[in-house]
Amino acid sequence: MTTVKATNITWHSTHVDRTDRERLLRQKGCTIWFTGLPSSGKSTTAFTLEHELISLGYLAYVLDGDNVRHGLNKNLGFSAADREENIRRIGEVAKLFADAGILTMTSFISPYRRERDLAREIHGEAGLLFVEVFVDTPIEICEERDPKGLYQKARRGELKGFTGIDDPYEPPLNPELVVKTGEYSPEIITAQILSYLVRNDFLVVDEKNACVERINTLNQQNAIHNSDQKCHR
Ligand SMILES: Nc1ncnc2c1ncn2[C@@H]1O[C@H](COP(=O)(O)OP(=O)(O)OP(=O)(O)O)[C@@H](O)[C@H]1O
Ligand SMILES: [Mg+2]
Repeated sequence: MTTVKATNITWHSTHVDRTDRERLLRQKGCTIWFTGLPSSGKSTTAFTLEHELISLGYLAYVLDGDNVRHGLNKNLGFSAADREENIRRIGEVAKLFADAGILTMTSFISPYRRERDLAREIHGEAGLLFVEVFVDTPIEICEERDPKGLYQKARRGELKGFTGIDDPYEPPLNPELVVKTGEYSPEIITAQILSYLVRNDFLVVDEKNACVERINTLNQQNAIHNSDQKCHR
């Protein structure tokens, strides 16, 4: 539980509200919260989606686990208390970005359900959309990928409290989306999330056609890629 130390503070009302910014940006500010095991593909998916959204003319931004720990959260480690504070701060920063009208993505392991629910709650209280995306990749695949060599270190006992090995990961119970990076390419998954955003009116209607066309192209490209792979087997 966070101790509140700030006293004698008064909320100052703004002159423009979120809908003014959303009209300007032709999109709905929201937080797309990626959660999953280490190496499950959170950053890859978030950055691929960010690239697509920007290319389509929407304002998107990724708050990435490792990147945020280089600055804002560099004073936090990986104890349960620090992990909690890490996610609390991200929840608050994401909320500010979403309120600014930005399609905000967070790519953090965020292993504990309670903290993700708290992030969802503060968005709900502010009337902001929150989309939890479970990057559902089996631990065997994550461990085989292990681009940072952290699973190996954890298995050797050189890294304590590693999520999935000696620290728990609590999968979401009711995520808005489940994506399978063990089965589909980042492009296919991007098309899946983009479809969700279009279907649920996160992006302005007159741009829908461009998005739909792009979703079809991404799916087709992947189909060609897959059939090429089959030919070469
Ligand atoms: N859809 C995908 N298909 C195949 N490989 C993928 C896919 N998504 C990610 N990967 C690969 O998985 C590995 C881990 O990806 P990434 O760094 O995005 O994971 P992460 O969940 O952000 O990990 P961390 O928790 O350590 O930040 C990388 O080598 C990446 O290329
Ligand atoms: Mg990452």
